[in-house]
Amino acid sequence: MILDKYNRIHNYLRISLTDNCNLRCFYCMPEENYSFMPSAQLMQADEIKQIANAFIGLGTNKIRLTGGEPLVRKDADTIIKSLATFPIKLSLTTNGVRLHEFMDTIREANITSINVSLDTLQADKFQLVTKRNNFKRVWDNIHLLLENNIHVKVNVVVMKGINDGEINEFIAWTKHFPIHIRFIEFMPFTGNRWMDDKVFTWQDILGTIEMKYSWIKLKDEVNDTTKKYIVPGHQGTFAVISTMTSPFCSTCNRMRLTADGRMKNCLFSKGETDLLAAFRRGEDIVPIILGNVQEKAAERGGQFVEDYHQLQAIGIENRSMIAIGG
Ligand code: 5AD
Ligand code: SF4
Repeated sequence: MILDKYNRIHNYLRISLTDNCNLRCFYCMPEENYSFMPSAQLMQADEIKQIANAFIGLGTNKIRLTGGEPLVRKDADTIIKSLATFPIKLSLTTNGVRLHEFMDTIREANITSINVSLDTLQADKFQLVTKRNNFKRVWDNIHLLLENNIHVKVNVVVMKGINDGEINEFIAWTKHFPIHIRFIEFMPFTGNRWMDDKVFTWQDILGTIEMKYSWIKLKDEVNDTTKKYIVPGHQGTFAVISTMTSPFCSTCNRMRLTADGRMKNCLFSKGETDLLAAFRRGEDIVPIILGNVQEKAAERGGQFVEDYHQLQAIGIENRSMIAIGG
C-alpha cells in the first residue's frame, strides 16, 4: 500500500502515453512552437507494462491513460490490451477524435467508462478553441460510445467569455442521454494564458444552471474530485470540478506518470522523479515510487494561495498540461 505523509492511500495511477495531440487547445498547448518529446524518450509499450506492474504490486487498482491525446500513439492499441490483463479498473481520457477506430480494442479491454473532453457544442467555437475542425467527429463518437453502453463523462473546461454561455446547452444534452457532464474550473499551467478573470467558478456554474433548471445533489464517492448533481427527470447527470475555489486534495489518491516516465505526485507538483531512467538502469523502482509519494504536498502541489485572484500563475513551477497528461 502506498501512503503519503498525510496518510492518504494512493491507489490510482494516471499514465500519459504521449504529449502529442491531434488538437491544439489553447489552454493546454503552449503558444510558442512546442516541440514534442522524441519517441526514444517515451516509455515504450513493454516499459509501461512493467512500470505499471510495479505500481499494481503496491496496491494500485485503477489506471487511467491520458495524453496529450493517448489514441494518437501508434501502439495505443497494444498498450491498452496489455494493461487490460492486469486486475485493475482501466480507463481513458481522450479528445474523442479517433474513438471510432478503437471500439474493438475498448470492448476487448473491458473498458466501461471513458472521459471525453469537449468544451463547446458549436462547431465554429470548437475550431476556435482546438484549432481543428473536428466537432462532428467527436459528437458522433460520444454517441457511438453511448450506443455501445459505455459510460461517458464529458469534460468541459469553463472559461468566462468563451463557453460559459453554453452551460445550459450541456445540461439540456443530459435530458435524453445518460451522459455525465463535468464542468471544470479553468486552471493555470505553464504557457496556457490563464488569467483569474477567465475563471468561471463552480458557484457561477451552479448559479447559471439554477436560472433554468432545478437540481438535486447526488452523493459523492470518497475519492471523487467532483461534486455531483442531477436535474430531476434527466437521464444524465452533471458535476463541477472546483480545483481553483474548493480543492478536493484531502482525499487525493492519485499519482501520475508523464509520457517520458517521470513520476509526479500531483498535477501541480513542482518536482518530478525520473522513474524511467532508473528503470532503464535496472534499479528497483519501488523505493523511488514510495519516496516520490512521501514528498507530496497537502494541497495543489503546495503552489497555490487560498484566493485564486491573488495567484501569480507565472510563479507556478510546472509543465504545460499537454506535457503532464490531464
Ligand atoms: N484547466 C482545466 N482543465 C484543463 N484540462 C486541460 N487543461 C486544463 C486547464 N487549464 C482538461 C482537459 C481534459 C482534462 C484531462 O483536463 O480538457 O478534459
Ligand atoms: Fe489535445 Fe486535450 Fe490538450 Fe486539447 S486539451 S490539446 S485535446 S491534449
